[in-house]
Amino acid sequence: MPYRTIIEPFRIHSVQAINLPDSEARQAAIRRAGYNLFGLHSDEVIIDLLTDSGTGAMSSRQWAGMLDGDEAYAGSRSYYRFQEAVTEVTGFAEVIPTHQGRAAERILFETMVQPGSVVPNNTHFDTTRANIEHQGGEAIDLPSPDAKSPAVAHPFKGNLDIAGLEAVFTKLGPDRIPLVMVTATNNAGGGQPVSLENLAAASAVCKRLGVPLFLDACRFAENAWFIKQREPGQQDRTPAEIARSMFDLVDGCTMSAKKDGLANIGGFLGMRDPELAAECRSLLILTEGFPTYGGLAGYDLEAIAQGLREVLDEDYLRYRIRSTAYLADKVDGAGIPIIKPAGGHAVYIDASALLPQIPRNQYPAQALAVELYLEGGVRGVEIGSVMFGKPQADGSELPAPTELVRLAIPRRTYTQSHIDYVAEVVLAVAARAKAIKGMRIIEQARWLRHFTARFEPLA
Ligand SMILES: Cc1ncc(COP(=O)(O)O)c(C=O)c1O
Repeated sequence: MPYRTIIEPFRIHSVQAINLPDSEARQAAIRRAGYNLFGLHSDEVIIDLLTDSGTGAMSSRQWAGMLDGDEAYAGSRSYYRFQEAVTEVTGFAEVIPTHQGRAAERILFETMVQPGSVVPNNTHFDTTRANIEHQGGEAIDLPSPDAKSPAVAHPFKGNLDIAGLEAVFTKLGPDRIPLVMVTATNNAGGGQPVSLENLAAASAVCKRLGVPLFLDACRFAENAWFIKQREPGQQDRTPAEIARSMFDLVDGCTMSAKKDGLANIGGFLGMRDPELAAECRSLLILTEGFPTYGGLAGYDLEAIAQGLREVLDEDYLRYRIRSTAYLADKVDGAGIPIIKPAGGHAVYIDASALLPQIPRNQYPAQALAVELYLEGGVRGVEIGSVMFGKPQADGSELPAPTELVRLAIPRRTYTQSHIDYVAEVVLAVAARAKAIKGMRIIEQARWLRHFTARFEPLA
């Protein structure tokens, strides 16, 4: 089209009201929640950018498919539609449905990881890391050196550090490494994409050493779109062709269908090796369900089957990636530090650069996330030392490498005016950044503490 404005390639078919709690109500809500945004009721939030996971709007075709869901315990017709869609997109013959991505991770790692195992990844997401550690393994992050400077734009900041991977193999030998993972796009690393060239290099290293390579494929379609836009030689290929090239370079994947499955729930494991798949299926039966439903209803399988096809539509992906960049441009244009370039599903504000007065052990990103809520009811999430800080033997804590607030954009859910409002709120908080104080944890759980920890603001 000859116009610059990229429009939403859909009409809104059904709407859901948003509550507009005032400042006093927000103060009371955050206090009750122990200054943890996960503790808020969604009706206390105006614009919810906590996650892009399972929060998107489904299409009329997905809803229509759901009405035709087959709820048979075994051999459901909906499973075969789901399997056909997954195999069409990924090329994997073995398809194991799970209730969400972390169930796929738990089953895969329980099958492959032992105490003492090491699993490298460009950057493990919280559930991936926790599931590896839960098996007694060690999850190590090998982000590309290009990812180290948030303000420097690089087309493929999600890449795996190939030299780092080689060094880990040389140090430990392949026997302690049951698998290597690559997360596309790299969520904890700023929603940044991985290039086909980088995936091919990782695949070559893994093949040479006989170690399987798995893709954390939650945002495979967004990653494919970035490859089309940015990788030489890929411009004339469709997102579906590029996605297939990504999957062709790996031995299997874990998937949360709550992201690029365009569904509200669901996930799967895909792989080529039938023996590994048989082991995973027996664990699946133990904890998730029979292999043709894996913890999902037949109608969920229908929604995912349709979503996997819709997500690779070029008009959708152009709109999706542009809507994230639109928010990033507004925030960056006002001089607020963010990870550059914009990620696929989210904008990541660099809280340590915006709030240099708050030391890392006082959780600057948590403090910023709380202020965004208090200012305008915008809920983001801390991706910093609350999520990834490592307790040390002496009682201190090793901070995370970065202190970020992620504003994740649900798919097909908010309009441009909602995003304009979010930008206004971010700018208002940034204008009073110097006065913002840190936080202290007063209660925390052993695993994934960020979901339930309670905080106290420091005076
Ligand atoms: C990169 C990545 N891997 C895994 C997961 C886990 O998926 P789920 O929330 O469906 O368990 C997520 C979810 O946010 C993610 O972003």
